[in-house]
Amino acid sequence: MSSSHYSLLTILILFSVCVATGKNLNGYNIPKLSVLRRIFIRDPTKLVRAFNLSEDFQTLFYNQTLDHFNYRPESYNLFKQKYVINFKYWGGANASAPILAYLGAEAPIDGNIGDFELDIAAQFRALLVYIEHRFYGESIPYGLTLDKGLSDPSTLGYLSSTQALADYAEILVYLKQKLNAKNSPIIVIGGSYGGVLASWFRLKYPHVALGALASSAPILYFSDIIPQEPYFSVVAKDFLETSVSCHQTIRQSWEEIDRVASEPHGLTKLSKTFKTCKPLQSSSELKDHLIETYAGAAQYNNPFKRPVEAICNAIDGASPKIDILRKIFAGLVASGGNLTCYVNPPSPAPSQTDLAWHWQTCTEMVAPMGITNNTMFPPYPSELDEFLNDCKRSFGVPPRPHWASTYYGGHDIELALHRFASNIIFSNGLQDPYSSGGILKNISDTVVAVYTTEGSHCLDILSATEKDPTWLVTQRKIEVEIIRKWIATYYADLRAIKK
Ligand SMILES: *[C@@H]1O[C@H](CO)[C@@H](O)[C@H](O)[C@H]1NC(C)=O
Ligand SMILES: *[C@@H]1O[C@H](CO)[C@@H](O)[C@H](O)[C@H]1NC(C)=O
Ligand SMILES: *[C@@H]1O[C@H](CO)[C@@H](O)[C@H](O)[C@H]1NC(C)=O
Ligand SMILES: *[C@@H]1O[C@H](CO)[C@@H](O)[C@H](O)[C@H]1NC(C)=O
Ligand SMILES: *[C@@H]1O[C@H](CO)[C@@H](O)[C@H](O)[C@H]1NC(C)=O
Ligand SMILES: *[C@@H]1O[C@H](CO)[C@@H](O)[C@H](O)[C@H]1NC(C)=O
Repeated sequence: MSSSHYSLLTILILFSVCVATGKNLNGYNIPKLSVLRRIFIRDPTKLVRAFNLSEDFQTLFYNQTLDHFNYRPESYNLFKQKYVINFKYWGGANASAPILAYLGAEAPIDGNIGDFELDIAAQFRALLVYIEHRFYGESIPYGLTLDKGLSDPSTLGYLSSTQALADYAEILVYLKQKLNAKNSPIIVIGGSYGGVLASWFRLKYPHVALGALASSAPILYFSDIIPQEPYFSVVAKDFLETSVSCHQTIRQSWEEIDRVASEPHGLTKLSKTFKTCKPLQSSSELKDHLIETYAGAAQYNNPFKRPVEAICNAIDGASPKIDILRKIFAGLVASGGNLTCYVNPPSPAPSQTDLAWHWQTCTEMVAPMGITNNTMFPPYPSELDEFLNDCKRSFGVPPRPHWASTYYGGHDIELALHRFASNIIFSNGLQDPYSSGGILKNISDTVVAVYTTEGSHCLDILSATEKDPTWLVTQRKIEVEIIRKWIATYYADLRAIKK
């Protein structure tokens, strides 16, 4: 149960995270998780959004209800929930000017301030609001003490997506009332798990949010809505499309790793070749590290750094004289940079995200992955049983794998949403393995999929830069136009009702 097996890279693999790091928590152990579980708890540092809390932003705290759904004594406890607000561009309540609300996900919101919302605020004359998700950042119940809030399953019980959505609703309703902005339409925005929340928020609270931009939101990833395979199929596809020979080299490397490992002193040899930080105890430590490296590169395969291309250039560019394992090592160096050692570095203390998101994936956000038939990876058994056992070991709770799809839907999503839902943009980049659990088809006139073949995880909701490729600029323009139409229709409805 020691966390000492984990490296910064391997420990944090997170479903969502477009974003920033959590605070480290000393003294907590993360149990040993299989690599596929860790992929679901991904390192949030890979895609740090631009962050500059200028004086235009005010940080505020809302006295939030601990438990929105019960009337037990502790339900009435309050905790301070952080939100950040920016009035600079707002057209005001009298103009019924819109509110763009960023829904925080499994990390502190600090890293999310600005970006896409800020870029479009002026043209919408929008008020910007960013709300932190409960149990992350500074928004931890029980007097903001991490030890109680995050260590005791009976208090962690108040960490759920349903409570989080209710928090968002309560704050947004309160803000509109306080600002006298009854008629200001709210558009909710989120990425990854936050994107999932944004789309669910529109479905569950249509009277609060006029529409949702759900970026890289794998809403079909839960329980058995889709097969468990596609995440790694997309990773393999990204590599294959980048370089056939690189994909081939990686495919052949697994067997070679096992072959060398089975030789006398094989693990020592592998440890040397891969400059591991600690001697390898098994070949799977190395294989897991490589699987995570490739998955991370694919998920964050952005057009600026092109990590998949960097790995493949190194593998393909290695001297034909060196053996396959040295080529693979060259890929690792290209991915991580020149480090003093690779594989199994000393693990940092787990972050809030490691712990709290681990809890979330052990309760509602159950998304087992598997590799059965992949062109690049060795088979990896589907791990639902292991997943369930790990959760019991970690928290003593049995996950509810079917609850997310029961409560939010997912099966036959087109049929369910076609006539019932409206005003949701599901944006994706097809390089992102999570796009395989996203909505990639237009379901109705206003429940639409806007994707790019070259985009990666949450790319569209990052800040625009001068280097942005045309397809990304276009994707954002389409999203803005769609939101503009929703708002125009809303104002027309409002005028019609007032007459
Ligand atoms: C943050 O914004 C302020 C005001 O716009 C600017 O002066 C400062 O240089 C910025 N800081 C960073 C780190 O970008
Ligand atoms: C929140 O609760 C505290 C303590 O009860 C109180 O002092 C503070 O004024 C409240 N804040 C708001 C915004 O209501
Ligand atoms: C908004 O409208 C009210 C009532 O019509 C008026 O009293 C107030 O001055 C207006 N506020 C602004 C900022 O225009
Ligand atoms: C790593 O260091 C070697 C020489 O020590 C250098 O040739 C290479 O360019 C460096 N690679 C990176 C990715 O910095
Ligand atoms: C395995 O994958 C390949 C290509 O991705 C596909 O053509 C084949 O049908 C799959 N086989 C099985 C048994 O799923
Ligand atoms: C869905 O509709 C939007 C808006 O009309 C369009 O931009 C987008 O390309 C469509 N998506 C697909 C997958 O056809």
